[in-house]
Amino acid sequence: MLISNSSTVSSDEAIQINPRLRIEIFREQCPIAAGEDVINGLTQTPKTLPPKYFYDDHGSLLFEKICELPEYYVTRTETQILQNYASEIAHLTGPCELVELGSGSSTKTRILLDAYQELGHPLHYLPIDISGGILEQSAHSLLKEYPTLHIHGIVSTYETALKHLNPSPLPNRMIGFIGSTLGNLKPEDCHTFFAHVVEALQPGDYFLLGVDLHKSKSILEPAYDDSQGVTAAFNLNMLRHLNRLFSGSFDLSQFEHLAFYNEKEHQIEMHLKSLKNQTVELKTLNLTVEFQEGETIHTEISRKFQFEQIQAELKTLGLVSLKNWTDQNQWFGLMLCQLQDVNA
Ligand code: AVJ
Repeated sequence: MLISNSSTVSSDEAIQINPRLRIEIFREQCPIAAGEDVINGLTQTPKTLPPKYFYDDHGSLLFEKICELPEYYVTRTETQILQNYASEIAHLTGPCELVELGSGSSTKTRILLDAYQELGHPLHYLPIDISGGILEQSAHSLLKEYPTLHIHGIVSTYETALKHLNPSPLPNRMIGFIGSTLGNLKPEDCHTFFAHVVEALQPGDYFLLGVDLHKSKSILEPAYDDSQGVTAAFNLNMLRHLNRLFSGSFDLSQFEHLAFYNEKEHQIEMHLKSLKNQTVELKTLNLTVEFQEGETIHTEISRKFQFEQIQAELKTLGLVSLKNWTDQNQWFGLMLCQLQDVNA
């Protein structure tokens, strides 16, 4: 594997791995290198950490395992919606470059690629992911599966990648943000994020958004606190990742996974609870953190949405809803929007 989060290379790189695969890495602009957000989060009360620290290569693999859990309906449901409607999406958009934010293993992407391939459209895929190892691995598999596919991957945060996109090689671009990753963003950050998406689009281009919808607590809570403890391992892995990045001394056995649904805010909250009074050091950040027994670190929000709410927000940015799709339980929503031509 050429690229991994644990690599020590600190400068930006662009690697043409073969004629159909190019990977760019932006580390400098990536705050993950600086750890400022970790210092801020751990010196606040209550303590917080940004969810992007879940996704070192091991964390991405744990997330893949979560997607297969019987309790975690999210991925399965969205996959089903894509299987039912990918061909309709491809018909609606025509040929377009497919940009994907948070591509991971690109499993769901294959459903879209199949639909565009079926229509004989050229296939240009631009995966963006913070986990370089996973991105590179899945790119290699995709090239084997799709003989005409061209891939230009970017390893960075969403924000940095969106700022560095070249013009699309095809008549249009579709930015895909599926999997309900939007749910990780606070309402105020959602708006900024959407504005960055709009800046990476031309009038007529598309935005495909997958969001988890409101539903009962009895379905939501087991999905984030599964019986096999995979979500707990995923949550705790953030501490292992921080240990590696910043020469930290978190003892994973002295923290516990917590997940509950906050019905008022319509969000799942995940926390890590300290099981004793303890001191943790992050050497390369020059940071010493004290924990009281029972004190928590807030590691993730996973917001649940309604179509109308998002549609109204996107409209203020010129993104007009073309069509929404859902499953038979209305658990998950897939939205296709188009950037309006200001002159139209
Ligand atoms: C990848 C952000 C969509 O919020 O459901 C899964 C992450 N956290 N289990 C989600 C997650 C705990 C997931 N997203």
